[in-house]
Amino acid sequence: MARACMALDIYGCFWTLSDHAHLAMHFDASTRLPGTAATLASYSCLSVLNRFAKDDLMLLRLRDVTKTYPGAAAAVLRGVSLDLERGEMLALTGESGSGKSTLLHLIGGLDTADSGAVAIDGTDLTPLDDAGRAGFRRGKVGVIFQQFNLIPSLTVAANIAFQARLAGRHDKDRAGTLAKRLGLRDHLHKYPEQLSGGQQQRVAIARTLAPQPDLVLADEPTGNLDEATADTVLALLQDLVAETGAGLMLVTHSERLAKRLPRRLHLQAGCLV
Ligand SMILES: Nc1ncnc2c1ncn2[C@@H]1O[C@H](COP(=O)(O)OP(=O)(O)OP(=O)(O)O)[C@@H](O)[C@H]1O
Ligand SMILES: [Mg+2]
Repeated sequence: MARACMALDIYGCFWTLSDHAHLAMHFDASTRLPGTAATLASYSCLSVLNRFAKDDLMLLRLRDVTKTYPGAAAAVLRGVSLDLERGEMLALTGESGSGKSTLLHLIGGLDTADSGAVAIDGTDLTPLDDAGRAGFRRGKVGVIFQQFNLIPSLTVAANIAFQARLAGRHDKDRAGTLAKRLGLRDHLHKYPEQLSGGQQQRVAIARTLAPQPDLVLADEPTGNLDEATADTVLALLQDLVAETGAGLMLVTHSERLAKRLPRRLHLQAGCLV
């Protein structure tokens, strides 16, 4: 039970209306006003919609994000700004301890920035509380964790389906296809502890991709694999993400793997270079 609660806490179990739905409702209401007022209100709403539509072109927008862990002598992130478009794939490198996982956790809404803005699809996550961020994240942002975070009491099949079920997007066929393409079909009935590190990593990838998130954050998703398998899994991850049109932010220590992505950034002294 404690494990189940922890899992729900990690992956989020709340749902909120999106800003788009609110905007659409305002726009509908304004067009029903009579005469000039209606026209002015419509123009005003259109300009708001245009502004949001422009912002919405950007899947991810970070502005001057800072983060210092309590008790730490120095800031981990010192004003990070970044835009990522839909369908764009970015590799993030940096020394161990440079803050790559921290940055991914802030984008994934798993932690909060001290200052700055983290916006996904035009919605700033920074004013949201834990429940609000969890609700927003569900189904929209998928995180492949560096430590996998599989649920030990669930089979591979149930682990793969877990987040998709939470997001109300479980599709048996898609789960089966993911398991097959990631070479997990013979392991579906097993528990995580019965798998090798590389197999667990592939379950984590399948679980994250099952709900078809708009943004995939992958923290060293091939860190436990030999070079040849890492190449194959990264190519597969890129294919699977591309098929859904999602954005991908991939953290890796490997320059070789980073070069396979069209865009690369390096985290150094708390800044992106
Ligand atoms: N929850 C935490 N509380 C306090 N300090 C933390 C916490 N998480 C990370 N840190 C510290 O913040 C710094 C950045 O950690 P982070 O895990 O983001 O680095 P990283 O670039 O992902 O490293 P690696 O490549 O080894 O995974 C490190 O100095 C780490 O010790
Ligand atoms: Mg890390």
